Amino acid sequence: MTAQLNPRGDVAVLVPAAGAGVRLGPGGPKALRLLGGEPLLAHAVRRVAAAPSVRVIVVAAPPADTQAVRELLAPIAAVTVVSGGASRQESVAAALAAVPDGPEIILVHDAARALTPTGLVESVAAAIRSGEDAAIPVLPVVDTIKEVTADGAVLGTVDRSALRAVQTPQGFRRAVLAAAHAAAVDPLTDDAGLVEKQGVRVACVPGSEYALKITRPFDLALAEHLLHAAPAAGQP
Ligand code: C5P
Repeated sequence: MTAQLNPRGDVAVLVPAAGAGVRLGPGGPKALRLLGGEPLLAHAVRRVAAAPSVRVIVVAAPPADTQAVRELLAPIAAVTVVSGGASRQESVAAALAAVPDGPEIILVHDAARALTPTGLVESVAAAIRSGEDAAIPVLPVVDTIKEVTADGAVLGTVDRSALRAVQTPQGFRRAVLAAAHAAAVDPLTDDAGLVEKQGVRVACVPGSEYALKITRPFDLALAEHLLHAAPAAGQP
């Protein structure tokens, strides 16, 4: 059934999905790899579309697969699909340019985080609604972290108590994200990094282990096991 996005929602969600997925091994673009028989992107969009605050979803698809992505997502929700770019940042910028006037909260969410609970979409949006300019979901770092040289010798041990692993969706006041992208010079791996460079405070909200980024074959195997334990679309 096609989800009805909320016409009075205040959130637009950008979904960069144009990555090749080289670290996942041979196969098509990562967002179109199958999890439980369905592309990762379909899982991710279904969970986002079930969030009551979401009014618009814009997906940046692999350029060669734009039409296929449109057809894939049509039964799930009314989604705008644009061609992604050569880097994640370019894909996000392309999606941002396609957001219509209206939503003042923009979330950026990796297609690769296919099992992200709908509740996490709402909690990031709520942080912006409560007055933050930017908010990101984070988890504590469980491993000991060491800084190493290029040839693999340890330089030192980092104090992990002050470290957090960062997930998506990352949320922004619309003007803040637009200004950060307009000023961007070097490509970064997340949007909060661009906003930090503008001196904007980025707030942290509790992340979810289900929002893992499916990057390597092990992650995909883990996600297959988690599929039925993960909150369904619409669940917190
Ligand atoms: O490569 P990485 O794992 O950081 O990708 C994170 C997200 O960015 C993925 O959902 C991927 O599809 C997307 N991406 C993109 N355009 C690119 C590269 C990555 O939309 N050129």
